[in-house]
Amino acid sequence: MNTVEIKIDSKKGKISKELHGHFIEFLGSCIYDGIWVGEESKIPNYNGLRKDVVDALKRLQPPVIRWPGGCYADTYHWRNGIGPGNERPVTYNENFGTYELDSNQFGTHEFIRLCELTGARPWLNINMMTSGTEEMREWMEYCNREDETSLAKERKQNGAEKPFGVELWGIGNEVWAGGGCMTPESYANEYRKYASAFPNFISLENGGKPKTEMKRIASGPDGNKPKERVEWTKQFFQELGKFRRPPLDGYDLHFYNWNLENLEQKETEFDERDWDLVIKGCLELDEVIQEQAALIREGIEALPEEEGFFKTPKPDCDLIIGEWGNWHGAAFSNRPALYQQCTMRDAITTALTLDILHKNCESVKMACVAQTVNVLNSLFLTEGETCILTPNYDVFNMYKVHREGLGLETVGETSDKTFIFASEKEEGIFVNLINADMEKDQEIVIAFSDDVQYVSGQILESEDPHDCNTKEEPDKIREKTGRAPSRRENDFAVRLPKASIQVMHFVRK
Ligand code: AHR
Repeated sequence: MNTVEIKIDSKKGKISKELHGHFIEFLGSCIYDGIWVGEESKIPNYNGLRKDVVDALKRLQPPVIRWPGGCYADTYHWRNGIGPGNERPVTYNENFGTYELDSNQFGTHEFIRLCELTGARPWLNINMMTSGTEEMREWMEYCNREDETSLAKERKQNGAEKPFGVELWGIGNEVWAGGGCMTPESYANEYRKYASAFPNFISLENGGKPKTEMKRIASGPDGNKPKERVEWTKQFFQELGKFRRPPLDGYDLHFYNWNLENLEQKETEFDERDWDLVIKGCLELDEVIQEQAALIREGIEALPEEEGFFKTPKPDCDLIIGEWGNWHGAAFSNRPALYQQCTMRDAITTALTLDILHKNCESVKMACVAQTVNVLNSLFLTEGETCILTPNYDVFNMYKVHREGLGLETVGETSDKTFIFASEKEEGIFVNLINADMEKDQEIVIAFSDDVQYVSGQILESEDPHDCNTKEEPDKIREKTGRAPSRRENDFAVRLPKASIQVMHFVRK
């Protein structure tokens, strides 16, 4: 039996709660039906936002939600989504086979309300492709200006007396493809312009400091293209170093676990080989994060010191994974667009991905699952009055305990399908154990470097790894109380059922 030692005095970095973030966009039924049903709907709602989704999302305490895209941000005009609902223009969405009208009933106020109701920090992505710095700046003014400017008054007339205080702003989305087919050089130059055009919201009342700290998030590379992403990051930072530079707070890389070998294959139908490919695919993110974090550090170090009074300090730029999740081939032909059922396979890769983020918490500070509702790696599936929580929801819920904890070092051999992660905070030590084997149970001994006591545990498992939650069986896969491990001194022997995820809680004695 493999033994893994958890070094409880080996504190690694702090796990930013924002690694558990969300991404929503008008694609398929993510927004309309998934989040927004309108006040007149018979589906219970909070001023149009569906109650079942909001309430369940709130239980997860989502740290951040990114909107309006994604690709949709590249053609989104924020003015279309404010003011009385019946006066809002109707536009068209042709991204990823959505092919639907956008009534624009879900706009800035509705998004902010969703964030307020769930306690999330809003992240707005600006339209860099079919709009300009003026439209961006006006959106910022509308959202954040306290003084009585015309835009602030308009916000008040639309029902929001207080500014929204939106700090996180993405500048472009996937600019290497749908966001403008740019080169790293051309994007760096666009970035300079957009990042310089940010209002600063400095207030004399606030001692000359900004009332809202605006964070500029650059569009990073395509995380799925090994050569291209290295070159992209190198060249982006080189270009920034060529002349005076605006601030840069975040660098947003997207990583999808593409499962496109057979576009006809349903996401719920797979054999062990297919299962293993998807598991293996999601693990690549580990290397991507390490590689990109190192390139960002190198890129920043190589930036020349700026001279003079107005010099900008070298950026303290965080790596962000603004979109991640499984993308099965069937999603392209499924309806609504990009809709995917989520089986235990998706739950396992969700857990593995979150653990990769946890392990790399010194290098990556924020990440958003793509997407929260009805699209790709979702936590919710809705259809009219039905709302199902996928097993991915349970993973996010079980993993909440790691937020703001300190990662712990684990030493020892596991099988190549067993994964372990541990963190510690005031409440105790939390250990994740994943068995990514589709067929076989595993056993493992976890040994602690000090005296600890088992408190409790949760497990997510299902008899058949193809299982998923459906309208007929909405709770087929639900987290439940786990079995206590058997103890010998400071060693705990744990059984890991096939395709399962466990979180165990220990305290120091
Ligand atoms: O999440 C779906 C799409 O994937 C997003 O709109 C885009 O940014 C990415 O290519």
